Amino acid sequence: MEQVPRPTVFDFHGVSMTKYFTDNWDNIQNFQARPDDILIATYPKAGTTWVSYILDLLYFGKTCPERQETVLIHERVPFLEITVPSVFTGKDMADQLPTTPRLIKTHLPVQFIPKSFWEQNSRIVYVARNAKDSAVSYFHFGRMNSLQPEPGDWSSFLQDFIDGKVVFGSWFDHVNGWWEKKQTHSKLLYLFYEDLIEDAGREIDQLCSFLGLSVSTEEKQSVVTEVKFDNMKQNKMTNYSTITVMNHKVSPFMRKGQVGDWKNHFTVAQDEQFNEVYKQKMRNPAPQFRTEV
Ligand code: A3P
Repeated sequence: MEQVPRPTVFDFHGVSMTKYFTDNWDNIQNFQARPDDILIATYPKAGTTWVSYILDLLYFGKTCPERQETVLIHERVPFLEITVPSVFTGKDMADQLPTTPRLIKTHLPVQFIPKSFWEQNSRIVYVARNAKDSAVSYFHFGRMNSLQPEPGDWSSFLQDFIDGKVVFGSWFDHVNGWWEKKQTHSKLLYLFYEDLIEDAGREIDQLCSFLGLSVSTEEKQSVVTEVKFDNMKQNKMTNYSTITVMNHKVSPFMRKGQVGDWKNHFTVAQDEQFNEVYKQKMRNPAPQFRTEV
């Protein structure tokens, strides 16, 4: 892909977005889902790639071993709303997926999900990560990815994050909106990044039970090994090293993969301010996050 100009955020139906995720809007909204599609929904930096790879291995690890060597993760699991005009659109990539089920990724807040996913009752796996680590990871992602707006320095980025002036809007609205949906929608599994860090095998069991998959102990163990941070970081199919809009010398996509790196970024004053905002912005009942494991 050619180098693209960095975008700016603007208000789009109440959510901060950039043109790379709104240019193809009508087509995205009219996306035709299928009952067996699996949508992986996250606020950015919650472990989307990690869960995408877990699902890809669970479904296709045994049946399509060549896929593991030749097909990049963002081609296996297209990013529904991404649009780089005259280069590619995630919607077309999703339409053209040859596999069943189709695994599709989105960062859209719940109110923007194409209605066909609800009509078809497709399964949705939502992954959430605590706000502080999400903010840190998003900051470094903005530094290395020219599809993202200029993040500025850490303190101005953190303020934008608090104000929801980052791409895909407010972290608070996102995790709360999806949490509320989960209360009434049985085809939605809500996972936490911190739980995956604590015990990936246990979370894979949860995924399999939600998806109606049965895998042998050996298969599961091989998935657990394959998706370890260090293995995904070395794997060209999953580390985004071939994506030209990303500069891994500035910050690698597979950066740290930890819970609690926020402690290396937040000053005491920033932490206190953030905790105050957190109390105000989290709805009741709200998902419970851990900032250390
Ligand atoms: P960090 O920047 O904190 O390292 P996404 O895929 O949603 O963009 O999320 C990227 C974040 O998930 C990055 O966080 C990345 O390192 C982390 N990540 C990706 N694969 C992981 C894995 N196998 N184990 C732990 N963290 C992982």
